[in-house]
Amino acid sequence: LPRILSGMQPTSDSLHLGNYLGALVNWVKLQDEFDAYYFVADLHALTVPTEPAVLRQRTRVTAAQFLAGGVDPKRSAVFCQSHVTEHAELGWVMNCLTGDGEARRMTQFKDKVAKGQNANVGLLTYPMLMAADILMYDAAYVPVGEDQRQHLEITRDLAERFNSRFGATLVVPDAYIVKGSAKIMDLQDPTAKMSKTGSSPKGLIDLMEDPARIAKNIRSAVTDTDGEVRYDPDTKPGVSNLLVIHSVLSGTPVDKLVATFAGRGYGDLKKEVADVVVERLTPFQERMRELLDDPAELDRILADGADRAREVARATMARVRDAAGLLPSA
Ligand code: TYM
Repeated sequence: LPRILSGMQPTSDSLHLGNYLGALVNWVKLQDEFDAYYFVADLHALTVPTEPAVLRQRTRVTAAQFLAGGVDPKRSAVFCQSHVTEHAELGWVMNCLTGDGEARRMTQFKDKVAKGQNANVGLLTYPMLMAADILMYDAAYVPVGEDQRQHLEITRDLAERFNSRFGATLVVPDAYIVKGSAKIMDLQDPTAKMSKTGSSPKGLIDLMEDPARIAKNIRSAVTDTDGEVRYDPDTKPGVSNLLVIHSVLSGTPVDKLVATFAGRGYGDLKKEVADVVVERLTPFQERMRELLDDPAELDRILADGADRAREVARATMARVRDAAGLLPSA
């Protein structure tokens, strides 16, 4: 089976609905057709100063949320990035292929610096470590949300650069970004993507939030004054976002939903969206409680995933070292 890989950072106490609909739902679908590697990007999370105990807990929760969302550890390797030390090693090789200006021009880095986030060098070299994550597994596709597109582009550039300098060694991956759900918007400001650093906590749906609160936040989502349920992300971003959320969770195409809501108001739409979200998250939260109740089992799954990942990583690193002229150790 061709390989795919993706990761998420453990930088908050829970994933949110954007992570779930933009990425996790696709991870679960794709594990039928691909040899899948899904990991918690704990090394990337070190770019944001965090209490060690908090990082440990968030790492476990993030891994558990992959499983609660439907990732099957029997088929897909689920692991922590830091458990496969080759990631950091290949990251170094990628750093040495990247221009200083090229790294500084990455929009995520520029945005963080502009927002006054104290930039450490890890933040600057973040995309090179991400390229290493992907190239390590010869991934054909990388299922991510729209905000990762530029990172995928630099990953492709770095793979091509390595190959042209040292000979064909690395697989050039493609992003797997699903139109529509790749950018779930903030409920309070539907022109901005849903994100843990969004303007208002009510704009975000935390996957572990109390269902009554979730329903309330959806009912108070910002829409528009036009009154008609239609899909038009440019002029009706709030309503369109609600339609996308409903569509992914209910499996009903957006145009069919629009037809069902003909002549009905936004109140009806919001109520139905709240219902489908709560219906999906109630069993998810239940499964989370079970997974967190048995940390030994979770650790076992992560250890097994790291073993499987390491096997691939070792083979790739052997190829990379040889191609780049690093002497094999006797
Ligand atoms: P992270 O942890 O910020 O986000 C995890 C995944 O969720 C997607 N996502 C969204 N999708 C739709 N709508 C949204 N509002 C939304 N917000 C987030 C992201 O696109 C992502 O797919 N750099 C990565 C982590 C990473 C990685 C990798 C990913 C490290 N190495 C290698 C893929 C391959 C990140 O910070 O994602």
